[in-house]
Amino acid sequence: MKLQNDLLLRAARGEATSRPPVWLMRQAGRILAEYRAVRQEAGSFINLVSNPELAAEVTIQPVDILGVDAAIIFSDILVIPEAMGLPYEMVEQKGPNFPETIQTESDLARLRIADPEKDLSYVLNAIKITKSRLQERVPLIGFAGAPFTIFCYMTEGKGSKTFSVAKKILYSDPELAHHLLQMITDSTIRYLKAQVNAGVDLVQLFDSWAGVLSPEHYQAYSLPYLKQICDAITEVPVTVFAKGAFFARKSIGELNCSVVGLDWNMDIAESRQLIPGKTLQGNLDPCVLYASYDEIRKQTRSMLEAFGSHPFIANLGHGVYPDTDPDKVRCFIETVREFRATQP
Ligand code: CP3
Repeated sequence: MKLQNDLLLRAARGEATSRPPVWLMRQAGRILAEYRAVRQEAGSFINLVSNPELAAEVTIQPVDILGVDAAIIFSDILVIPEAMGLPYEMVEQKGPNFPETIQTESDLARLRIADPEKDLSYVLNAIKITKSRLQERVPLIGFAGAPFTIFCYMTEGKGSKTFSVAKKILYSDPELAHHLLQMITDSTIRYLKAQVNAGVDLVQLFDSWAGVLSPEHYQAYSLPYLKQICDAITEVPVTVFAKGAFFARKSIGELNCSVVGLDWNMDIAESRQLIPGKTLQGNLDPCVLYASYDEIRKQTRSMLEAFGSHPFIANLGHGVYPDTDPDKVRCFIETVREFRATQP
């Protein structure tokens, strides 16, 4: 069967589209009352992630309720550490926590390379159910964390502004860092290939903590592993979103990926010059959605005009904040849907 709305895939391949496709990072989540109801029924975030029927239901909600041009499978980047043998908990109001972390070479003995068919079958089942229920209305996006971002959680054990515990290892034990990054990379390649086999149409790599690294450390500890993944995933387009890595845009643009995600600190005109041959994605400041409807329309149009003739996918510069009014999200989406590119 053929996709009814293939705007996202056409834009990802750099083809001309009648208007830019639009979706939002974290579109399936707490902004929707319908999500909160299913989340309550599931009892906890991890229960929801590991229940394929319910995960499929919340994946499809934003397509029906918000009118986005793609669904993103409801899961989390932290399922990879868990599948490698390092489980996490999601603490209400606080975020993820790992009861055990990796600190020394001997800790690696507790880890394994993830076997997606066995350890992540719940995600693969959620993808299959979602694909069948979507009935080819819009593409389904799969995803994983970038190896460096997963490394941050496996060593630091929780969120952090600086990730200084994780970065300490880069300075004190580079060998351990590379060893763990390689294990994460091998697990991620297997996982993304399994997502593709289960039916996803595009995959996105989230390097959410890229911005804590120096340019030199980004070259050493993130890019080589992103490269391995981009080179391995040849079946579907790949998007690389490295939050805060404005200094690495040129190198990211040289990876074997189709789309480069931009956050709102990255100037669009400058990014078009640095990344000439790739589709760009982004990058409205999520806080714009707290503004008036008029201001949202104005800011969205000015973003659309700045991308001009460059192939691009409209999105925010990071995930939508949970307290955003869904009507404001709709206003953003409608402004993109009504937009027709006029001049190059
Ligand atoms: O985008 C989507 O709609 C798909 C679902 C999705 C979730 N997490 C669901 C989620 C995706 C793509 C992610 C990725 C993810 N998870 C990232 C990378 C993207 C980014 O934001 O930079 C990161 C860093 C994580 C780790 C994570 N998961 C954190 C730090 C938190 C707590 C912060 C928060 O928003 O509460 C989570 C929990 C989480 N993952 C929620 C959702 C909907 C909220 C949990 C809840 O419903 O109570």
